[in-house]
Amino acid sequence: MKFAGSDQYVATADLMLAVNASATLQRPLLVKGEPGTGKTMLAEEVAAALGLPLLQWHIKSTTKAQQGLYEYDAVSRLRDSQLSGIEGTEKVKNIENYIVKGVLWQAFEADQPVALLIDEIDKADIEFPNDLLREIDRMEFYVYETRQLIKAKHRPLVFITSNNEKELPDAFLRRCFFHYIKFPDPATMQAIVDVHFPGLKKELLAAALKTFFDVRNLPGLKKKPSTSELLDWLRLLVAEDIPTSALQSQDEKISIPPLVGALLKNEQDLTLFEKLLQMQRHNR
Ligand SMILES: Nc1ncnc2c1ncn2[C@@H]1O[C@H](COP(=O)(O)OP(=O)(O)OP(=O)(O)O)[C@@H](O)[C@H]1O
Ligand SMILES: [Mg+2]
Repeated sequence: MKFAGSDQYVATADLMLAVNASATLQRPLLVKGEPGTGKTMLAEEVAAALGLPLLQWHIKSTTKAQQGLYEYDAVSRLRDSQLSGIEGTEKVKNIENYIVKGVLWQAFEADQPVALLIDEIDKADIEFPNDLLREIDRMEFYVYETRQLIKAKHRPLVFITSNNEKELPDAFLRRCFFHYIKFPDPATMQAIVDVHFPGLKKELLAAALKTFFDVRNLPGLKKKPSTSELLDWLRLLVAEDIPTSALQSQDEKISIPPLVGALLKNEQDLTLFEKLLQMQRHNR
């Protein structure tokens, strides 16, 4: 099982190495990187490339580790016990009927190896990663209600993504293989755009990429535009039929690009951009 990129997804050599290393070590791959650099898509693409079903667990601030294992649905059981006649009492007696399996359980009991994505782990509270140490390490957990030990039939290929909003505990890090997706360099970015827009005119692409990296390199931006924003912007340029000349300023200086709302997402950055342009005009 070797991952070597796909025709939808551009993987750099170090990223492929990281995916294969985590598979060899049988440890989760912890992927960090700016928003929109393809962390979530990586799991989808690796799963597709290796022919593994992908189970996804999207983490929110309220998510608890236990929800990934199982939940005991006491409310349904109470309701059933109040509403059902004699034939319903058999169901109510058996607590197993009210255990709802979580994503980890589903991954553990699958008959074939699966890929498991734990997306945006940093959204949850600090206890969340600590609560999953044993499950991730030993690939097993205990169901107290039914006194069952659930063991993984096959070790799933685990991907964990983080946007770095919170630090992860050391004990958790020890159990992962780590990879940081660096922001793509212009050549890689060109390859990514080619995947999404194979027929794009060369001049338009070159001008758009130059504008994009100019905007990204503005000092002091609050939110730098990322890969997915560039792709959105290109989609708009194509849809609106914006000519290449609208992106190129005659004197090599930066100008406000058309449809800038796809790239800059807050008023401070826009103001900063406009100020810079004013200064340029002043200096002429
Ligand atoms: N290497 C790549 N190859 C092809 N497309 C890419 C690549 N990187 C990013 N993209 C594009 O960027 C989009 C965003 O990627 P994705 O949702 O995986 O980012 P993310 O890192 O998970 O972002 P977030 O942290 O906001 O969740 C994808 O839908 C894809 O179109
Ligand atoms: Mg994501």
